Amino acid sequence: MKGLVLSGGKGTRLYPITYTRAKQLVPVANKPVLFRVIESIRDADIEEIGIVVGNTAAEIQEVVGDGSRWGVRITYIPQEAPLGLAHAVKISQDFLGDNNFVMFLGDNVIQGGISKLIRDFETNAYNAQVVLKKVSEPQHYGVAELDEHERIRRLVEKPRQPQSDLALVGIYMFDPNIFQAVQAIKPSWRGELEITDAIQWLVENGFDVHPYVHKGWWIDTGKPIDMLEANNRVLLEIVPNVAGYIDRDSDVDARVTIEAGAEVINSVVRGPTIIGSNSRLINAYVGPFTSIYHDCLLENVEIEHSIVMEQCTLKNIPNRIEDSLIGRNVEISHSAIKPRAYKLTIGDNSQLGLL
Ligand code: TTP
Repeated sequence: MKGLVLSGGKGTRLYPITYTRAKQLVPVANKPVLFRVIESIRDADIEEIGIVVGNTAAEIQEVVGDGSRWGVRITYIPQEAPLGLAHAVKISQDFLGDNNFVMFLGDNVIQGGISKLIRDFETNAYNAQVVLKKVSEPQHYGVAELDEHERIRRLVEKPRQPQSDLALVGIYMFDPNIFQAVQAIKPSWRGELEITDAIQWLVENGFDVHPYVHKGWWIDTGKPIDMLEANNRVLLEIVPNVAGYIDRDSDVDARVTIEAGAEVINSVVRGPTIIGSNSRLINAYVGPFTSIYHDCLLENVEIEHSIVMEQCTLKNIPNRIEDSLIGRNVEISHSAIKPRAYKLTIGDNSQLGLL
């Protein structure tokens, strides 16, 4: 069994963050989403992983490397443009050979890993297995309709009038018959080779496609709010650990992780929260569901339910920051120099909610 991780794409829904960073490298609870994906695959005893990469190939290769850090071997598969998930499978055929494989979208986070799924797939010798999850707004997803025997009848990409609330989670298992399917299908109206069409082709041609309904949580981190939701979920699951320094004037609750070299001075930190290595909190309040990545300074600031990426400085801000996704090297401070006004250098497609 091999792994195939999809880490190309444009990430337009996460602009401006994704102008300068691959979506899959945005940290959730201080670890890039892509690292969590690689770990899930490694934990299912798969050692050969192909990563499909697009415009952000250089950045991903630099950060992920050859995989030895996780005890896996990584091969990079360049995709000329984001031409669809089935296109990514098509271009990976040389790497995958005649192995079965698990395809995992590099921006998805799933509770409980995939070891059980892989075991089920291998034991039952299905031709394909798709992971499904009940969702409240199926019109935003690829949706699977099942028949009375719980077998897949039809897959529909973002249906206007969904006949089922079972969304396709971005994890799929295939045997080599999928290559016939991706050769047979044509691009959809949006110009992409859709994986839903390829799986539908398998169903129509009599292959055994097994639906697996996942009971835990699953987040597709397409939009900023999804990143925050994934951050909430993961923070609730990590075992807290204090490796940094907390001074005696600070109040830090039991659900907080303080990484090595971090300092908490005269501050209040309520978990679940993580403070990254070499970050400093001075007279700050960091509330629940917040991840502060490494080398940040937060001074005279209140923040909660947010992700702050590395090397940010947040200083002397009069109002509490909430529900925010803050990119790398950002500086936010109180502007003391007259005229008293918001003074902003903001990237294209930024979103600000001002008081
Ligand atoms: P999407 O979230 O569907 O696409 P995207 O990342 O381009 O985002 P947006 O819609 O905001 O522009 O992609 C899901 C995952 O699959 C993501 O990790 C990118 C990856 N992907 C590829 O590697 N190749 C592709 O051709 C496509 C469509 C996606």
